[in-house]
Amino acid sequence: MARAKPPKITRNTPKILIRSVAIKKRVQEVARQITRDFKGERVHLIGVLKGGCIFLSDLIREIDLETSLDFIAVSSYGKNKDSSGQVRLLKDLDSNIAGLNVILVEDILDTGLTLSYLLRVLRQRKPKALRVAALLDKPSRRRVNVTGDYIGFQIPDEFVIGYGLDYAERYRNLKDVCILDPGGTT
Ligand code: IMP
Repeated sequence: MARAKPPKITRNTPKILIRSVAIKKRVQEVARQITRDFKGERVHLIGVLKGGCIFLSDLIREIDLETSLDFIAVSSYGKNKDSSGQVRLLKDLDSNIAGLNVILVEDILDTGLTLSYLLRVLRQRKPKALRVAALLDKPSRRRVNVTGDYIGFQIPDEFVIGYGLDYAERYRNLKDVCILDPGGTT
């Protein structure tokens, strides 16, 4: 019988930080917490494009409440790994959030600049509640004092890709969260 070839590890093979099975389990736990916190109420999930869309689509299907969703887009890092510190609204919400239980769904909290900008914008629109769900949190990188209410995983200061997170628009489709090749050639 022919032997399967062993997987070839190259410099660009991403190193797995969080496996898809662990992500799935944690997303279910976070959804259960949201379901408990908003028992009997409707929640309106706002996904922050583009990174938050995979997390949102898995999370919303695990929430056992009446739900609705919308998306917002802000400027991102482009091809660099470091934030410019400037946040710009690229796509606004489609509908009014006044009086709604809003859960902002982010891929990752890094410096916190994006979240702090979004919270300022959304608070002005008078939602009933405004909470933050983020799959990942890198607390050691924080430049402004913001925190998430529902955090999937706290991670060290590494640039990560996969499960919605990109590097120069690539790798969003990886099922696991991986550390980008430290050689930086990808
Ligand atoms: P912040 O404004 O610095 O908190 O960054 C928020 C945004 O930067 C996230 O929503 C991501 O799009 C992006 N980002 C931050 N860290 C990473 C990372 O490790 N990998 C990919 N994108 C990241």
